[in-house]
Amino acid sequence: MTRTVASIIGGVPQREAPGGRLTVSNPADLSETVAEVLLGDAGTFVDACRAARAAHPGWASVPAPVRGRAIQQLGRLVEENLEALSQLLTREIGKPIAESRGEVQEVIDTCNFFLGEGRRLYGQTIPSEMSDKQLFTFRTPVGVAAIITAGNFPVAVPSWYLVPALLCGNSVVWKPAEYTPATAEAFAQLFLHAGFPAGAFNVVLVDGAATFAGLERALDEHLVDKVGFTGSTDVGRRIGELCGRHLQSPCLELGGKNPLVVMPDADLDLAVEGALFSGFGTAGQRCTSLGIAIVHADIHDDFMARYDKAVLEAPIGDPSEEVVYGPMISERFLHRFLAWLELIRPHHRVSGSTGIGRITSDNPRAGFVGDPDAGLFCHPTVVDGVTIDDELYSTETFGPIVAVASFDTFDEAMDLANGHGYGLSSSIYTRDPLHAFRFRERVSAGMVSVNNSTSGAEAHLPFGGNGKSGNGSRQSGIWVLDQFTRWQAMNWDYSGHLQKAQMDVADIDADLGFRLSDRPRD
Ligand code: UN1
Repeated sequence: MTRTVASIIGGVPQREAPGGRLTVSNPADLSETVAEVLLGDAGTFVDACRAARAAHPGWASVPAPVRGRAIQQLGRLVEENLEALSQLLTREIGKPIAESRGEVQEVIDTCNFFLGEGRRLYGQTIPSEMSDKQLFTFRTPVGVAAIITAGNFPVAVPSWYLVPALLCGNSVVWKPAEYTPATAEAFAQLFLHAGFPAGAFNVVLVDGAATFAGLERALDEHLVDKVGFTGSTDVGRRIGELCGRHLQSPCLELGGKNPLVVMPDADLDLAVEGALFSGFGTAGQRCTSLGIAIVHADIHDDFMARYDKAVLEAPIGDPSEEVVYGPMISERFLHRFLAWLELIRPHHRVSGSTGIGRITSDNPRAGFVGDPDAGLFCHPTVVDGVTIDDELYSTETFGPIVAVASFDTFDEAMDLANGHGYGLSSSIYTRDPLHAFRFRERVSAGMVSVNNSTSGAEAHLPFGGNGKSGNGSRQSGIWVLDQFTRWQAMNWDYSGHLQKAQMDVADIDADLGFRLSDRPRD
């Protein structure tokens, strides 16, 4: 079934297509059209920001517990529509159905967390340094939030922004990836049926260039107060520059080259299982995907033999079946991935499949599930012998490829874990708490797993990275509240006269010359 989808501004679908039309196919079966998209342009983006600006005061004045009720209703609607949304997500980006259901569950978890936050959203009372005066803090909404997200997690990651932003009393303009319009439009319908007022939630389907131009205009016209962006480091840098000109700090969630360190005392089968899931789940197209396995020299060969076997035997193919991964998200992702394979050099040892590159009937994968020629499938690729000087080491390769390096000393392992400059997720496999805590202390990543893969963050822990992975902003849990509210400090003096801070403060008389040796002895 093909859907025709469009931007929705102030609750009204936009029937024109000033940005042209786009057809999105099922990447597991290219003969199936999933959506026809009426694309907006930069003006569409600005119009949505204007609608959000107009709706903001009304929404901000709704009591936070009532806003929490809207989040609760959204969570219920997502729960009731879990299967339909998951099936659509799998059809549109080829994520295995079990993972799609997990992703939709993450939206429900996020709603469950934030519906209660509506009854908290605490400020503080703080003692004043003077009597008859009281100090308070309040969280106030930021205003209009423009949220620009990627398509690899087309509902879970957007919910990390949209749900807390709305709960905190902001209005939002959501720009999903243009290659996931059907899932985005379906998710938008759930927001629109959850009771948010028209204009508080808007969705714009526009391409990247038009988004950037629209955002630039909207910032110039003071229509946007906060930008949230999940995507590549390069685009994140440009968005950061743009926001910086307007004295805004965006919430940036960017790329990763997530390391997984295997110590000699590790449970190797567990490490292999973790490296398989995080390296190849979602075809390696997560920002938390394993980038480089860093394996101690003493167990390197043993680890590689087991890893190779696990990757070779991993079922790959039709995402409606039980597979480790399905197709690449879209043609664009496929072509970028094929280009990254060219970073493999003669000193590398390649394994993991019966071929390399795209899986076709001419370049088959043994045990492939389904018809490889129907979609955009790629061989899993393990590249051993990677060194810190290789381009493959320092490049985020968003696809089913895992680099492997070996080390002798812990210092070497840490150099490899941090040297690329990304700092999103990381993992160590060890039985020794000392190694685990040393790793936590020294790794530059915002997220650390011990005896667990680099993927699979829970919805109520701070999510985000450092260095090339982000500007230190954090999503999820209570930590994201600082992105979507501003602290306002208030003082109230009821003494009836002007009390000057620092100057009219009572002092405490102390005998500071007193020394213990002065005490009379018995
Ligand atoms: C992303 O790829 O942008 O932790 C987010 C995980 C997922 C989220 C990934 N829950 O792997």
